[in-house]
Amino acid sequence: MRNTILFIIILITVLFGVLVYFIPQTGTIILLSISGLLTLIAIHDSLQTKHSLLRAFPLVARLRWFFEEERDKIQQYFIEDNLNGTPINREKRSIVYQRSKLQKETVPFGTQHNVYAKGYEFVKHSMFPKDHHHIKGERIVFGSDKCTQKYDGSIINISAMSFGSLSKNAIKALNQGAKMANFAHNTGEGGISPYHLQGGDLIFQVGTGYFGAGKYDAEGKRVFDDEIFKQNAIRPEVKMIEIKFSQGAKPGHGGILPAKKNTEEIAKIRSVVPYTQVDSPPGHSAFLNYEEMISFIQKVRDLSGGKPVGIKFCVGNNEEIESMIKAFATANNYPDFISVDGGEGGTGSAPMEFTNYIGTPLIEGLVFVNKLLQKHKLKDQIKIIASGKAIDAFDIVRYLALGADAIGMARSFMLSLGCIQARECNLDTCPVGVATQDPDLVKALVVEKKNVRVKNYHDKTVQAVKEMVAAMGEDSIENVKAAHIFRRRKDEEIVSLETIYYN
Ligand SMILES: Cc1cc2nc3c(=O)[nH]c(=O)nc-3n(C[C@H](O)[C@H](O)[C@H](O)COP(=O)(O)O)c2cc1C
Ligand code: SF4
Repeated sequence: MRNTILFIIILITVLFGVLVYFIPQTGTIILLSISGLLTLIAIHDSLQTKHSLLRAFPLVARLRWFFEEERDKIQQYFIEDNLNGTPINREKRSIVYQRSKLQKETVPFGTQHNVYAKGYEFVKHSMFPKDHHHIKGERIVFGSDKCTQKYDGSIINISAMSFGSLSKNAIKALNQGAKMANFAHNTGEGGISPYHLQGGDLIFQVGTGYFGAGKYDAEGKRVFDDEIFKQNAIRPEVKMIEIKFSQGAKPGHGGILPAKKNTEEIAKIRSVVPYTQVDSPPGHSAFLNYEEMISFIQKVRDLSGGKPVGIKFCVGNNEEIESMIKAFATANNYPDFISVDGGEGGTGSAPMEFTNYIGTPLIEGLVFVNKLLQKHKLKDQIKIIASGKAIDAFDIVRYLALGADAIGMARSFMLSLGCIQARECNLDTCPVGVATQDPDLVKALVVEKKNVRVKNYHDKTVQAVKEMVAAMGEDSIENVKAAHIFRRRKDEEIVSLETIYYN
């Protein structure tokens, strides 16, 4: 095969050579040049020793690499249907684009979902639906009896994504959108950049690398620093603090900032060396057990001037979480909110095994935490923020029904910025300027256009939640219960989520 391809391409070049000899015109010379070039590439391919396939099939094996490279795009544009794309299917992506751009949101002809398939879920509506204009509960108050600066927030907020993972224009547009629609924007573990300070409310995340909240110690380890943290935490834009333990896409791993995305500017904000990969440690150095954790939460609360302090994790070892909640109850001191992230959560960059095989999925994690808070009588004090592929109103209503008080959304807000799910966030080549630090690509994202889309997506989604709750016959979003939502468990059996998770 190797020799046949080489022989054919050399033969073609010789033929063109003869043609040029007899008809020396521009067209024939171009043909000879092209075939000559292809011959050289084929000879190179057949002689090189690195790639077996290319050695066996000179030139043509390059087609495989092309299709391999482009397969995600081919899949998305030509093969995937509305419901089977991953991680976020086309139907869900479309509703975000439509809501962001204030386009038509209705669908024609009927559902494409198989309502008889196992796992199909739906809401039971009332014979006496309410007027959706008068549905209450779109805002909630964060802050336990331990906090002195409570925060009146939206039930939908932007989940943690750092400057570094996202571009400066993306961060600006998210923050400006949050300001326009009066909801909160989580900084992510990369600290507070000037692009976060556009007037929108901030949830200041403190990760294990303590970026914006710490420094290097004498041994070169990142440690929490009271003064550095305080300077950021007391900013008026910062409404809440979130201490990150883990995120669903890579629990037990710590954040990863690829070297290519760690520009001079980002390195300065994080106080790290530019253009090196920055791995946050997997765990916190500021505390080593539950008692120390509780003291740390209180210290952080005090340093921030009494703002609500939360913790974020993806549920892992159940016994550990139970011990922690028990410790909160025993100490009579606790965080003001818990952000439960699902194993299905997103990331800018993560090891494959961590993304696929570590971390409890959101529904089970959320129900587990909610039950523990109820058991230890802490539900009134500690709010739950749930995050994990919440895109449309049904996703939100379902998580609220299962115990969440508010929802954190990351990838859906990326979609509202124009993300096309090219899944190159870890390569610095994001074609729409959302998840890249390449200045030319960043320019593709026009802040003044996208900030409005962020606002629209938030507002239209809250509106859709209200319409769903009105159809359920309830006056307020907070009345949504697991008993309202049903799942086809077997062919002829439909059961409520209450029966599945709370009995
Ligand atoms: C690009 C990107 C960057 C993220 N960065 C952080 C981070 O800095 N800290 C964190 O706790 N979670 C981070 N996450 C996780 C999200 O905050 C969120 O918990 C998770 O993606 C689930 O929400 P989603 O399904 O709506 O995306 C990131 C997610 C994405 C997609
Ligand atoms: S378009 Fe692709 S690279 Fe850019 S943010 Fe979306 S998924 Fe990531």
